[in-house]
Amino acid sequence: MLTLLGEKYDWVREQPYDACEFLALVDELTENNFYGRVHPLGKCLLDGQMTPDEMRFLATQEYYYYASTTWWNAFKLANSDTLSQQRLLHGPLLEELGTDVLEDSGTPAHAELFLQYCESLGLKRDEVLGATIVPSVVLAVTELLRIARERPQFEFIACSNLVIEKMRPAFYRKLLDTFSVNYTWVPTWGLKFYEVHATSDVGHSTLGRRLVASYLDSKRDQDAIMSAVLRSLCLRHVMYDGIFAAMKGKQSLRLKPWPNFPREPWPRPRQAAN
Ligand SMILES: [Fe+2]
Repeated sequence: MLTLLGEKYDWVREQPYDACEFLALVDELTENNFYGRVHPLGKCLLDGQMTPDEMRFLATQEYYYYASTTWWNAFKLANSDTLSQQRLLHGPLLEELGTDVLEDSGTPAHAELFLQYCESLGLKRDEVLGATIVPSVVLAVTELLRIARERPQFEFIACSNLVIEKMRPAFYRKLLDTFSVNYTWVPTWGLKFYEVHATSDVGHSTLGRRLVASYLDSKRDQDAIMSAVLRSLCLRHVMYDGIFAAMKGKQSLRLKPWPNFPREPWPRPRQAAN
């Protein structure tokens, strides 16, 4: 079945859409095409149909994606246009970095929580960090990093907060239900990563919506936001296409990530800082 992505949006139109109308178009697009709901891999995971080996493989592929979030959030601050935007965005950055940098009782970095999840699947840290990845993961994480670094802040916020962070809380709440019913072999101490994102991203989505809404006055900026949303959806689909094909034995090409991946291989510290 053919789905034409974003066909309702009029690129030729000169007048900007009403802000509510524009955001409604974005929401409809996102809700109908979010990988977790419509991609075969998302459905398979959510339906509780994955084998332990498939779950482990998926985790090693998703690691570099989730480990990139601190850089993405840092670029949201770096590319902000005002101090008040930076003040709004520092909270989500701190959450990604881990609130344990401020207080011992805080939450670890989200990348660390994901490694805990991997450990609960039976994967050692070295196995995750030394795993080979499929080409579509390379493409997705390097391209998301490029958009975060090079494009205006509201474009990357559209990519992340209006798409993923909007859809993820409900997706992860369902996934947590699936863990409790279908993946009972995964210990609950490993699910903190999903528990945190099932709630915290609700606030991030609202915050991102406010920031993006402040750039909706011109059709030119609406075009930029719409293209960012489309790229975001496409990147996730491509990423999971590659992972799913490899999971089902249809794709055998792998890459061992270079040092500092997905950033440039140089310069890099003499010893990994961790
Ligand atoms: Fe996170």
